[in-house]
Amino acid sequence: MSQKKRVVVLISGRGSNMKALVAGSRHAHSAYDVVGVIANVPDAAGLLWAADEGLATRVVNHRDFKTRTAFETVLHDTVLAFQPDFIALAGFMRILGDTFVANWQGRMLNIHPSLLPAFKGLHTHEQAIAARVKIAGCTVHFVTPEMDAGPIIAQAAVAVMPTDTAETLAERILVAEHKIYPAALDRVCRGTVTLVAGKVVATPHEAGSDVNQTAVLYSPNLN
Ligand code: GRF
Repeated sequence: MSQKKRVVVLISGRGSNMKALVAGSRHAHSAYDVVGVIANVPDAAGLLWAADEGLATRVVNHRDFKTRTAFETVLHDTVLAFQPDFIALAGFMRILGDTFVANWQGRMLNIHPSLLPAFKGLHTHEQAIAARVKIAGCTVHFVTPEMDAGPIIAQAAVAVMPTDTAETLAERILVAEHKIYPAALDRVCRGTVTLVAGKVVATPHEAGSDVNQTAVLYSPNLN
């Protein structure tokens, strides 16, 4: 692998997906480094963890700004200061505007705790249980202006148990999130998954590997 790609992670809360991304970056052959963590919530628990790990952290508190544009201008500059190749949204609870998204087209990923296009937005686990689906899951996608509608990179399926509550389902889906997000980000940073004319194009990522390896991304059994 040539130079590792530089990734900035944006969070709003506990940051368990951020931790998984950092853990993934520490694998011997990882294609990326997490170079910074930015939160829009000053007391986001994930920030403390990141700082303890020696990662550079920043806060851009959306409440300090009168408009979304003003917030996103400073957020953009704060991200740029890390000279990143990619942004990973990991439980970042602000909708980003068209200009910000356009600036990072094909270079910004998000994880959503449902099998998109089902159950966009908030309260996804409640939505899944109310709909009585038998299979739920999570999705990593490129971010586009329309919320939770960007081209899908990776998904993992999780069975819904008859006894599940939103909380128990969320716990099991989170385990899958922590597997597919680092794997998907690694592929994107390696250049074996790209966004071309609005579509995800995946190629085998190792010499001699067959095309089925790209299908691994769509299974919960990522390693
Ligand atoms: C995750 O379920 C993620 O899919 C969603 O928000 C939650 C964030 O959790 N976007 P964490 O902060 O990564 O622990």
